[in-house]
Amino acid sequence: MIEEIFNEALTRKSVFKNRDALSPHYVPDNLPYREKQIQELSKTLAPILSGRKPENVFIYGKTGTGKTVVTKFVVKKLTEFAAQKNIPVDAVYINCRIHNTRSKVFIKIGSELLPEENFMGMSTAYIYEKILGKIRESDKRLIIVLDEIDKLKGLSDAVYSLNRANDELENGSISLIGISNNLTFKDRLDPRTKSTLLQHEMIFPPYNAESLRRILEDRAKIAFRDGAVEPGAIALVAAYAAKQSGDARYALQLLLRAGDVADEEGAERVTEKHVERAKEIVEEDIILEMISTLPENEQILLLALAKMTQEGQGIRGFGTETRITSGDLYNAYARLSETLGRDPVSERWFREYISDLAMYGIITVTQAGKGFKGNTRLIRLNFSPRKIIDVLEPRLMG
Ligand SMILES: Nc1ncnc2c1ncn2[C@@H]1O[C@H](COP(=O)(O)OP(=O)(O)OP(=O)(O)O)[C@@H](O)[C@H]1O
Ligand SMILES: [Mg+2]
Repeated sequence: MIEEIFNEALTRKSVFKNRDALSPHYVPDNLPYREKQIQELSKTLAPILSGRKPENVFIYGKTGTGKTVVTKFVVKKLTEFAAQKNIPVDAVYINCRIHNTRSKVFIKIGSELLPEENFMGMSTAYIYEKILGKIRESDKRLIIVLDEIDKLKGLSDAVYSLNRANDELENGSISLIGISNNLTFKDRLDPRTKSTLLQHEMIFPPYNAESLRRILEDRAKIAFRDGAVEPGAIALVAAYAAKQSGDARYALQLLLRAGDVADEEGAERVTEKHVERAKEIVEEDIILEMISTLPENEQILLLALAKMTQEGQGIRGFGTETRITSGDLYNAYARLSETLGRDPVSERWFREYISDLAMYGIITVTQAGKGFKGNTRLIRLNFSPRKIIDVLEPRLMG
């Protein structure tokens, strides 16, 4: 019985030959439509090879326009080239969504340069001196990539102290590459940080449907078996992603899911029909991810609503849909908060949360009309209650 399952998995046909090539971490050898940006970034960093400190770079552009992948690509080529010529160039890549304070950034740099040391709990000043010591000792030229830099708390201090290191260093240097998809972020920087970080600015424009099609075709050749994706399917993915403000990440995610759908059906080829189904799945993935980052009170409210919907409580008579009155939902929310050991918010705040969730499209709110008390509102969940419970219960209960 178990062997049957394993055998099935072994002999199962798949449209993929290398599914990982569609994962967000894969760095392709070819980045079509970014030749200019690759050249410009390479030219800006190249002085590092002859011992001059390159200008700091600030890269911005909408989500999925290739900022991260291009930067990683150029930095990797540069450090490989330098290593061949025995030039001490080193790079540290930092995602500021994860390392979101100055102290975390310093710990990350310190532990990459000095892996044998443990910097946890050490003062920033101590780590800073250790980093400088290491740079001096090996005449190191260090590139620090601060990706999603808008998520870094205390950004000005971090940028200031990293940049100031250059004045204290007789040998070696530190150069910064800041990356952000927040188009208004740079306008909010204070003048000193702005002039330090924005020595060289680069903008990544969004891809259009034609560029996305080419990017997808290239990637499909690596990820899928020959002829396993219909050209119409790729064109459709490109068209949808172009509408999503030219987001290449969304395009690749959609293609990946379309392949999964085709596999589930045991189909030979990925077709437009699979793309349509994949689009629903990806949109749901995006919503579920968004739900997992909502403030806790809104999560509790949503979980209460999902449970009531799942149990079929509330008012029927809207086809198969369940609607819940705002009063019933508030009571359920307050009870659940107490079960979880949290203080429920007042009804005023509750109304704010309801409008937030409606704005995100997670719920729909309608006026109850006659037969109901005063300004009773009816609330409907727009997503599968099961999925919401699966996402939120472990978070809130765990
Ligand atoms: N020109 C390109 N050729 C091939 N693949 C690309 C290209 N541009 C982007 N991609 C792919 O699209 C995805 C998104 O790119 P990337 O992560 O670089 O976007 P980003 O601009 O950093 O977005 P965000 O601001 O959301 O972080 C990645 O999987 C990347 O490999
Ligand atoms: Mg990125």
